[in-house]
Amino acid sequence: MISNAIRADLSALGLHADAAEETTEIATPQPEQIEDWLGLFYVLEGSSLGAKLLVKRAASLNITESNGASHLAVQAGNAANWSAFLGVLEAMQHLNEARMIHWANETFSFAHQAFETVMENNLADH
Ligand code: HEM
Repeated sequence: MISNAIRADLSALGLHADAAEETTEIATPQPEQIEDWLGLFYVLEGSSLGAKLLVKRAASLNITESNGASHLAVQAGNAANWSAFLGVLEAMQHLNEARMIHWANETFSFAHQAFETVMENNLADH
């Protein structure tokens, strides 16, 4: 949902726009059961909460939608998805919580590695 915005931000920041593709070096999580998807969505949708703060921090550095923070703007504007996700979570019963938490951690780990890979590949080129 935000990959185009991320590509535009990388380009605006003078980083390789195509570096986003380099995350294919990392194994993509392959969710199967409902708990796997819920753990994954927890991280993807929850990240919009922090994005609201990060939009302001970026703006204080003069980085806005037009020059590097467009993906944050999209995330911050998606607050309704988080409430909808919580509604789904509340309605679910008999979930394997440990499995859900494991998948949230897997998703965090993937995001972290994706970020590190793009940054390292860009720094290596300078
Ligand atoms: C890949 C996923 C995520 C990334 C990359 C991310 C990144 C960040 C970063 C960099 C900050 C600023 C931290 C600081 O310097 O103070 C932040 C803040 C925050 N994040 Fe996340 N986050 C993610 C997922 C989540 C999730 C799943 C939640 C909750 C369900 C969440 C909730 C928050 C909140 C509430 C803040 C603001 C904390 C404050 O007010 O000081 N984030 N996030």
